[in-house]
Amino acid sequence: MNVELYEKVWMWAASVLIVVFLAAIFFMAGLHAVQPPSHFETLDPTKLSTHPEFGNPGVKIQPDGSIVVSVVSQMFSFSPDSIEVPANRPVTFRLTSADVMHGFEVAGTNANAMAIPGYVSQFTLTFPKPGEYVIACNEYCGLAHHGMVGKLIVKKEAP
Ligand code: CUA
Repeated sequence: MNVELYEKVWMWAASVLIVVFLAAIFFMAGLHAVQPPSHFETLDPTKLSTHPEFGNPGVKIQPDGSIVVSVVSQMFSFSPDSIEVPANRPVTFRLTSADVMHGFEVAGTNANAMAIPGYVSQFTLTFPKPGEYVIACNEYCGLAHHGMVGKLIVKKEAP
């Protein structure tokens, strides 16, 4: 079978691209721990104020010592606004929205999830570096979207 040179070149180029894309997926999944969401939980977004957890959002230490942060996003703020967690301990974030879809990205870290009305987004992360981090909404949610920022304070743990 005779294959034209140009056709061969493009076949090879396409094959190389596929290999590069696959390698990029495995690289991000393995080395950077980027993963698709695996948590599925729903709630009624119109009844958040009386919800046992999201009616009173904040940082809560569970009986087993783990740290859970429940966050409600709404136009154009996060509640609670200043979130304080210790460094070097796993922190589980649980996010939901009271109105439209918002983003929740802790700048400079691997924390990045969507807050979707009716759903709970959950992820667990450890912050090794104490300091103040900006939480940014990275989903367009309305006129003051650009001003929707919060603060995460990572405190050095007492020895
Ligand atoms: Cu909230 Cu953009």
